Amino acid sequence: NKNFTLAVVPGDGIGPEVTTEALKVLDAVAAQHGVTFERTEYDLGAKRWHATGETLPDTELEEIRKHDAILLGAVGDPSVPSGVLERGLLLKLRFTLDHYVNLRPSKIYPSVGSPLANPGEVDFVVVREGTEGPYIGNGGALRVGTPAEIATEVSVNTAYGVERVVRDAFARAQARPRKKLTLVHKNNVLVHAGHLWTRTVDKVKADFPEIAVDYLHVDAATIFLVTDPARFDVIVTDNLFGDILTDLAAAITGGIGLAASGNINPDRTAPSMFEPVHGSAPDIAGQQKADPTAAILSAALLLEHLGLAEAAKAIEDAVTADIEERTGSVRTTAEVGDAIAKRAAG
Ligand code: NAD
Ligand code: IPM
Ligand code: MN
Repeated sequence: NKNFTLAVVPGDGIGPEVTTEALKVLDAVAAQHGVTFERTEYDLGAKRWHATGETLPDTELEEIRKHDAILLGAVGDPSVPSGVLERGLLLKLRFTLDHYVNLRPSKIYPSVGSPLANPGEVDFVVVREGTEGPYIGNGGALRVGTPAEIATEVSVNTAYGVERVVRDAFARAQARPRKKLTLVHKNNVLVHAGHLWTRTVDKVKADFPEIAVDYLHVDAATIFLVTDPARFDVIVTDNLFGDILTDLAAAITGGIGLAASGNINPDRTAPSMFEPVHGSAPDIAGQQKADPTAAILSAALLLEHLGLAEAAKAIEDAVTADIEERTGSVRTTAEVGDAIAKRAAG
């Protein structure tokens, strides 16, 4: 019986609601697969910030670092200035723990609704760079609030950072049956970063001769995600493009309530972190209206990362079965969690 330690950050809005269900399902499968999860919950987010002014103190970050994995709900609240929690909590975790692979799988489950009339067989994964790009905070503002205001957000792309995520994406493509990789960027305009990405893919390609590689500008990629999403297998892209594309990917594959993600540190120098792609959804928070499936599938990604593939599959199968029986009748967040947990427990 193996024990894993889990840092849990429920966060804001629907974060705590969906995290409760993910933990419920995790516990339901753990027993069968001979593992236990020792959980420590971290009270971080809007409430904490209002009470103490803290987003994520370094001492707590170092405690979180000691765990085997992190499960996060969502962060961000209308009562806190935009960016304070997103940068000070979520991005601080991703950057400090070197989550350079932001893994976001998308597939259309049998019988799931898509707004696309005829989407075809959609099953792809976005490997979104997680530690660089325009997210890094390299910018500033001058003469704020005056007609002469200047605001900059400089995208940072390092050869080291680009190559490691590109290599990871190629390795993932290699492990998938279709063996295809699409680089998405905007190298016709963002020529400095774009050409670094393109050259890196060209170089790494030599080590993966079986992989078919293509390239799309990000604007065209949004067309194909709607007109022909089945063409994609592995997409590798920059931090911001990946953010935008994965909300679109969620929308065409059953909705944001199903989209799971892993912030992976492939070198395992720090724990990886698993969270739904969606945010704190203030418009439905506290009403038991949120779909917890994305959080539950994120827990499955967590299990897979810890080497518990069978337990992960038990969750995926339970989710697939639950989705197949969704009739459109409204269930509460907890009811969905209960139903999936019951199935997952066998
Ligand atoms: P959002 O994802 O929170 O919500 C967008 C829309 O999707 C809303 O209508 C919401 O009700 C709906 N939605 C989201 N999750 C759902 C679920 N599980 N079930 C049913 N409906 C769901 O995005 P937003 O409104 O742009 O952002 C709200 C806040 O969340 C902001 O503070 C933002 O910064 C933050 N955010 C955090 C994360 C994160 O923690 N990883 C991700 C995205 C946004
Ligand atoms: C996501 C979110 C975050 C991002 C924000 C809240 C920092 O939109 O996880 O997709 O942009 O990465
Ligand atoms: Mn996003």
